[in-house]
Amino acid sequence: MSGIEQQAAGDEMDAGQRLSQDWWRTSIIDMRPGEIRYRGYPIEQLIGRVSFAQMIWLMLRGELPGQGQGELLDAALMAAVDHGPQAPSIAIARMAATCGVGLNNAMASAVNVLGDVHGGAGEQAVALYEDVAARMETGLALPEAVGAALAHYREHHGKFVSGFGHRFHPVDPRAPRLLALVDDAARKGIVSGRYATIARAIEAALGEGRSKPIPMNIDGATAVIYAELGFPAPLARGLFCLSRSVGILAHAWEQTGQGGRNKGPIPRQFLWTYDGEPQRDVPQAPPK
Ligand SMILES: CC(C)(COP(=O)(O)OP(=O)(O)OC[C@H]1O[C@@H](n2cnc3c(N)ncnc32)[C@H](O)[C@@H]1OP(=O)(O)O)[C@@H](O)C(=O)NCCC(=O)NCCS
Repeated sequence: MSGIEQQAAGDEMDAGQRLSQDWWRTSIIDMRPGEIRYRGYPIEQLIGRVSFAQMIWLMLRGELPGQGQGELLDAALMAAVDHGPQAPSIAIARMAATCGVGLNNAMASAVNVLGDVHGGAGEQAVALYEDVAARMETGLALPEAVGAALAHYREHHGKFVSGFGHRFHPVDPRAPRLLALVDDAARKGIVSGRYATIARAIEAALGEGRSKPIPMNIDGATAVIYAELGFPAPLARGLFCLSRSVGILAHAWEQTGQGGRNKGPIPRQFLWTYDGEPQRDVPQAPPK
């Protein structure tokens, strides 16, 4: 091979190597044999010093949270882990576990239903709170900003406002406690507290003129924390999935231990409501 040919082959290899290296680009993790660094921090320094919640923050945001920020995130993640087999995600985890699938399949099935109406509602809630905040920045007072944002929300999403309402709890006991933590953090200057104020104003506006309030639910309350901490709206859904995965795993594991087989959503003595055609005979000839 001539010198020129060797040079050309070398250039081609460099280009190929670069193409392959740049195929995945990430600022999250760097690795070589014997070394693992997350966001630049060696794993051996993180282990034992950084909690799981702080690690979630580091992975998503690139920097370690302050103590108070990490504690608030931890509280939000902790508060939403489980809501019993009445919650579709938990029931699905348990049903899946009786179908002969592994824990990963049971967990994936359950996480899959954390959508706009169950568990994933925090995403729209954060977006709504941010919309109110943006309207206030243009000079609107809180009640007017809430009114305008709610009208806009309903136009695009219908009458059910994400993060509010509960089928089971007249007041969701998790919400006031989480908001009290936000108030405390606001007093200490860790967060601004403005999303807590906004969420409370939305709750009040939804309850106006009704005999029963439409209470802030766990998605709405954790959304306050995620907004206060500066997480973009779609991450509220992702974080809820992380949190609920704990309960999902616990229920799938417990059900695996109980050993039920092929368990449906209701006991077999009970049947669904059939509202179709009454019994009839198949016609002798196919209809023309
Ligand atoms: C969670 C949810 C499905 C529970 O609904 P529910 O208890 O079955 O509520 P109902 O459909 O019986 O509604 C009762 C009344 O409250 C109203 N309401 C309930 N949730 C509401 C909400 N989020 N926004 C506005 N109105 C709501 C209904 O319009 C209904 O009013 P009406 O009596 O004047 O018709 C519902 O509140 C909802 O979809 N919330 C938004 C999604 C969400 O946050 N999901 C997370 C749940 S933890």
